[in-house]
Amino acid sequence: MLHLPARIIARATALRSANLAIIGALVLAVCTASAAPAPIVLTGADRRPATSLNGDWASIIDPYFSGLFSFHHQEKANGFFLNRKAGHDDSFPTEYDFSKAPTLKVPGDWNTQRESLFFYEGPVWYERDFNYQPKEHTRIFLHVGAANYRSWFWVNGQKVCEHEGGFTSFNCDVTAVIHAGANFVVAAVDNTRHEENVPTLQTDWWNYGGLTRAVSLIEVPETFIDQYDVHLNDRPESRNIPDRADFGVVGFEELAYIDCWVHVVGGHFGDKVQVEIPELKSKGLAVLLKDGRARVFLDVLGLRRWSPENPKLYKVRITTGQDVIEDQIGFRTVETRGTQILLNGKPIFLRGISIHAEAPYRTGRANTDNDAETLLGWAKEMGCNFVRLAHYPHDETMLRAADRMGLLVWSENPVYWALQFDNPKVLTKAEQQLDEEIGTSRNHPAIILWSMANETPNNEARTQFIQTLAARARRLDPTRLITAALLVRADGHTKIVDDSLGKALDVIGVNEYIGWYEQHPETADVTEWRIDFEKPLIVSEFGGDAKAGMHGGDNDRWTEEYQANIFRHQLGMLNRIPQLRGMSPWLLMDFRSPNRPLVGIQDEFNRKGLISDQGQKKQAFFILQKAYKEKTVGKPE
Ligand code: GCU
Repeated sequence: MLHLPARIIARATALRSANLAIIGALVLAVCTASAAPAPIVLTGADRRPATSLNGDWASIIDPYFSGLFSFHHQEKANGFFLNRKAGHDDSFPTEYDFSKAPTLKVPGDWNTQRESLFFYEGPVWYERDFNYQPKEHTRIFLHVGAANYRSWFWVNGQKVCEHEGGFTSFNCDVTAVIHAGANFVVAAVDNTRHEENVPTLQTDWWNYGGLTRAVSLIEVPETFIDQYDVHLNDRPESRNIPDRADFGVVGFEELAYIDCWVHVVGGHFGDKVQVEIPELKSKGLAVLLKDGRARVFLDVLGLRRWSPENPKLYKVRITTGQDVIEDQIGFRTVETRGTQILLNGKPIFLRGISIHAEAPYRTGRANTDNDAETLLGWAKEMGCNFVRLAHYPHDETMLRAADRMGLLVWSENPVYWALQFDNPKVLTKAEQQLDEEIGTSRNHPAIILWSMANETPNNEARTQFIQTLAARARRLDPTRLITAALLVRADGHTKIVDDSLGKALDVIGVNEYIGWYEQHPETADVTEWRIDFEKPLIVSEFGGDAKAGMHGGDNDRWTEEYQANIFRHQLGMLNRIPQLRGMSPWLLMDFRSPNRPLVGIQDEFNRKGLISDQGQKKQAFFILQKAYKEKTVGKPE
């Protein structure tokens, strides 16, 4: 039984039974309202023609969420989502008015837009008007790049979807509620942290709330492509291809196999699907099977494989019925062989750096092409061929930039620290975010590693939880490697990598802080490593804090000299680990965190950046840059 707010029932009853229909309509409205369809995943959504809804949105701060819930915490039928104006109904007070409210920029976290919202954690309402001219036989989706953490959306007063998870994009079907001319969209975003969230209560980054990435309207035909995967398959045996020599083609590198699958919504068995790579004068044709998927194969000659040295992207055009999507995709392979990582069949060493999605200079959530090109430009300047995009899926702008600039990517699901690993609801949330991450970003050649977690406690429930995620990731995408950043235990001066989760990974990531959280920088010189897995190892974090411009001796904490000293000794130690195949020191740029209150030094910033949030390069930047450019650290085989 659905309970209406007492005030509404009292008023309706007073209006006599003749108005029972009103109550019925309200109950129906609320039931319908809270039964909005789940959002969907669109691969390559940023490649679709779109109407941007970025810009100023009216905003109302609503710490008690009374814009959605009544005084007995029942979902209201007349919440803020109706976008009424003050004075709308003289028999009932309208206590909000978006037209008189201050604005917030979208995309953007609210914390860095308004001093009063810097530490705010709770619900915020957004509203904006827009004109639209829907076309015949199209479906329209409200595309949200990210909304941290939980979000609810209404168009013209009708709920269109809800979403949980602060770092993945989603799409709400608004076809039924949008009309020609003036429309309005209302969103509620709540960044309150909860123990059963993913991530959970504690993280070491700022809980930036809001519509933190771009919002737009995407139009697709009634039958449209929602997901697709286009990748290089250099396993001809997997397609029962006879020996290459039978093709009469001289040399393996001249003939390549591109495998694709395309999923179509609203299609029918037998519908045609075509994948075309014009520059290679190649196209493949297939029909939709009963599961809505078509498997398309292309044999191509003269393919230039994508690599950090040669980040070649091809236009790929996928068509079915009235729908066409054109993506920019690079083709490469990645795999492991023993303790080696092979890119396009050749051993590679990943010279990397970790990066948070913190905007350079202005700080706050990074979400523009300029943010991405600045951050990745610094990584390239450092001599990197690899970046660890921590600790959550980054924006599509970042992944497109990595594709263009030739930076390999470790992408990470925010299974961070001590989640409720024994709670099935939490697993479902982590699986949903993994599906969205992979479903959206599966065609970026830059991404080679899907990371399942960071620094989780080594116990049975955790291992089971992440093994389930790893198996799911492999089913979703068998073309990439699975990793996670593990904690390492110590026995005297020996670091021991024996976390049971390692069995589920292709590549072992480990975080260690010799010289900062443990012992002194020189301890690295006498530290040995025992790795209980015959797999490639990436040291996914090491480093220490330094305030840019603060100087002293090599043993004076918080100075640039101390941080540089850590890096000198760390690099010496890492070079003594035979199966080390990559590193992503912590990290490129200082970032905001409430865990870092040390006045005058941290001021709510984690200062482990090799560059300050204002772009000042610290001494350690140049130490790592020298090692990477001269390739004096790490061996690919
Ligand atoms: C951990 C954690 C990071 C954190 C870092 C630090 O390893 O993975 O998210 O910021 O240590 O303490 O600076």
